[in-house]
Amino acid sequence: MSSSGPCVARCAAVSAAILFSLLAGQFVAAQTPLGAGEPAWLAYRPVNAAAVFPGGVPDTIVKLGNDVLEDSAARELALGWRGMLRHEPRFVNNADAGQGRAVVMGTQAEIDAWRPPVTHEKHLTQDAYRLYRVSDVVVVEGGDARGVLYGAFALLRLIAEQHSLRVLDETSAPWALVRWTNEWDNPNGTIERGYAGPSIFFEEGRVRADLSRAAAYARLLSSVGIDGCTINNVNAAIDLLKPENVRDIARIADVFRPYGVRLSLSVDMSSPQVIGGLKTFDPLNAEVAAWWNSKIDAIYAAIPDFGGVVIKADSEGRVGPSQYGRSPADAANVVARALKPHGGVVLYRGFVYNNHLDWHDMKADRARAGYDNFHALDGKFDDNVIVQIKHGPIDFQVREPVSPLFAGLPNTNEAIELQITQEYTGQQRHLVYLVPMWKESLNTDMRASAAATPLPVKEIVSGRAVATQHHTAGGFVGVANVGTDGWLGSPLALSNLYGFGRLAWEPNLGAAAISDEWTRLSFGNDPEVRATINKLELDSWHIYESYTGPLGVGTLTDIIGIHFGPGVESAERNGWGQWIRADHDGVGMDRTVATGTGYIGQYPAPLAAEYESLATCPDNLLLFMHHVPYTYRLHSGLTVMQYIDNTHYWGAQAAAAQVPAWEALQGKVSDSTYAEVLKRLKFQAGHAIVWRDAVTEWFTKMSGIPDALGRVGHYPGRIEAESMHLDGYETVDVTPWETASGGKAVICDLPECAVQTTWEKPDGWYDVTVQYFDLLHGHSRFSLSVAGNEVERWIAGDTLPSDKLNGSTSTRITLDNVAIHRGDILRVTGRPDGAELAPIDYLSIVPSAVHSTVIRNAAR
Ligand code: GCU
Repeated sequence: MSSSGPCVARCAAVSAAILFSLLAGQFVAAQTPLGAGEPAWLAYRPVNAAAVFPGGVPDTIVKLGNDVLEDSAARELALGWRGMLRHEPRFVNNADAGQGRAVVMGTQAEIDAWRPPVTHEKHLTQDAYRLYRVSDVVVVEGGDARGVLYGAFALLRLIAEQHSLRVLDETSAPWALVRWTNEWDNPNGTIERGYAGPSIFFEEGRVRADLSRAAAYARLLSSVGIDGCTINNVNAAIDLLKPENVRDIARIADVFRPYGVRLSLSVDMSSPQVIGGLKTFDPLNAEVAAWWNSKIDAIYAAIPDFGGVVIKADSEGRVGPSQYGRSPADAANVVARALKPHGGVVLYRGFVYNNHLDWHDMKADRARAGYDNFHALDGKFDDNVIVQIKHGPIDFQVREPVSPLFAGLPNTNEAIELQITQEYTGQQRHLVYLVPMWKESLNTDMRASAAATPLPVKEIVSGRAVATQHHTAGGFVGVANVGTDGWLGSPLALSNLYGFGRLAWEPNLGAAAISDEWTRLSFGNDPEVRATINKLELDSWHIYESYTGPLGVGTLTDIIGIHFGPGVESAERNGWGQWIRADHDGVGMDRTVATGTGYIGQYPAPLAAEYESLATCPDNLLLFMHHVPYTYRLHSGLTVMQYIDNTHYWGAQAAAAQVPAWEALQGKVSDSTYAEVLKRLKFQAGHAIVWRDAVTEWFTKMSGIPDALGRVGHYPGRIEAESMHLDGYETVDVTPWETASGGKAVICDLPECAVQTTWEKPDGWYDVTVQYFDLLHGHSRFSLSVAGNEVERWIAGDTLPSDKLNGSTSTRITLDNVAIHRGDILRVTGRPDGAELAPIDYLSIVPSAVHSTVIRNAAR
């Protein structure tokens, strides 16, 4: 570095230390109301400073520019220096940083002015950054101010991972221009498919007064390179476009801005009619176009860096251009033309399908819809329109092939839509690290012919692969749906938000590498913590898939409801088209060209050939592509039916094994995180059994083929509540039948009831499980006694997402090491609360595997 560089006139070396500490202080204050775990991966835990900076920690931070994003970068470094390096840095603005150890940060232009530009260096592109050393100085150089901020976060990441920065030269540029989250928040503060409490943006129809969480969220997003956030539900509340609401929404954009996150809105195509008072919303009508122009101008007047709009139309009850015989391109373009002068974009969702399909029509196929509706429009979209395509052709199932539409729009900008919120993947109560699944989609090769160069989906959405010159953008959209409860509710689910951002920046990063980064940033560098959490994360998708929807059949959940617990038959005989077409003889959708819906023909030839043939179709997509008999043998040699049984038993066991794995981390992660994760993993272990039993019993009954290993329907130690002596309880049928053991449960319509049985087996130590239903509303009270001694009492106080007895509300409590003697009376007493009638499904009493020192019922 040249200490006599060209900073002469600006070298007033204004010490801004006080200003910066004030700013940083303000930030910490803004963080205070947030709950535990909410700094997420920006925890900035102490590291070994000498290992990171062997020559000594830089004590001066030089901020060359004055952009608000560079201010944020400086503030962030201050937080990182204090938290991780235990060091209070000195801040200087426009300074001569030539003396001593320093971090100098600025845009490429600012850095060039500070030191003589090096001619062979490559120009840094938009949002890109470069980290390098010039003797004792660490340089954070950005392609623009946002690049400086991203560079600062990257430097902090390296420090958090305790890398030595003795040698440093890292240049990084984002893969795609659009890296957005969509939040499905409603103005009343609820969030569609959100599993972490109410909205951080809205309450009671208005933008929240306190937007500190929105600011903290923008900071999190920025730290992984996410540059846009759509703050409202794709099922858009039309009123949000009213002037008073736009003014209010501008306050959210104000708190996003310091982190380089551009706000965007979901809009409804009927807005010109509904709030504009026009007679039509026909996108080809001149008045409609004028309305959009003036509305978008007004938005930019309030939010100068507004990112653009997301449009869901002609889908799931939303109106759209089809009402006027117009196409999605007509609809997208009218809004795009209003946005164009301001640099905004339209993300038009490819999720357009008919949810009133005819179940009896064997050629009907929802999976075809994206391609059928959009392929013919290729090249007809304006260059600031991006078609936003869900990664699979159905709807975020636990496994789907990649959508063929990605290959169907070679002359159109495309973005991939991934779902961070775990709608069909356990709603954050089940651990599912989704990055491996997303990577399968991104890496799927959509080449047009076997001879052509590979064309993976990640290349298509980079925006570089688009055939025509005037198309420039592509991207990644993650449906995040964060809420006030620790962003995603589950501390471990944050890896998905983190992973989405990292993949959108660089999809070639490996799933394991991303998990490890996130773990180190969130929990520190302890090798045991890293190994345990990484394993849990990396195994999780496969485990969840095993006990929910195997072989590509889809998540076998209640398709028309809340998408949580099992509900196998709900997929069938309705217009939603998530059919599995299971009958007595076989299962799966025949999507072949030869005999089925022809869906497979939408793929480029090499992929179509692979899927069309049973010989080459991968087992894990078999039932998505083909209808086969239960006796069909997979590549593994197992029959479909035996695979279904085995995988569900394996999955439930693997889910149970996650609990002790996590328990080994007690004392190594914060107590609150430990307890929160343990609670969720225990729930998951129990719920995996509900899933296992429901799916295996359903298929056993449907196929008439018994489990070769004799497990299904035979549960050692299980005592059905309805078979016990009922004291006030009455037996009811549960719907769907497969979600309760034996299809029945008992409920209590009195102030108090009980079930009891006499123990006829040998004296011993037993683990006692009570399987009961915990509805969304109501807090029934239960107690378990053995031979008159109360062993445990508990309240059904969870908020499982249904008010019915079904696979979403079935849950359990397990008491380990209960001493039971032959002849003892076991009695469960239930006291209902409101409409929750203290429902019980069964008891399970099995010999204790481990006799711990905690001896229940030892009084006897
Ligand atoms: C799913 C989800 C809906 C959502 C829709 C969408 O169907 O269940 O809540 O509105 O996707 O992506 O538009």
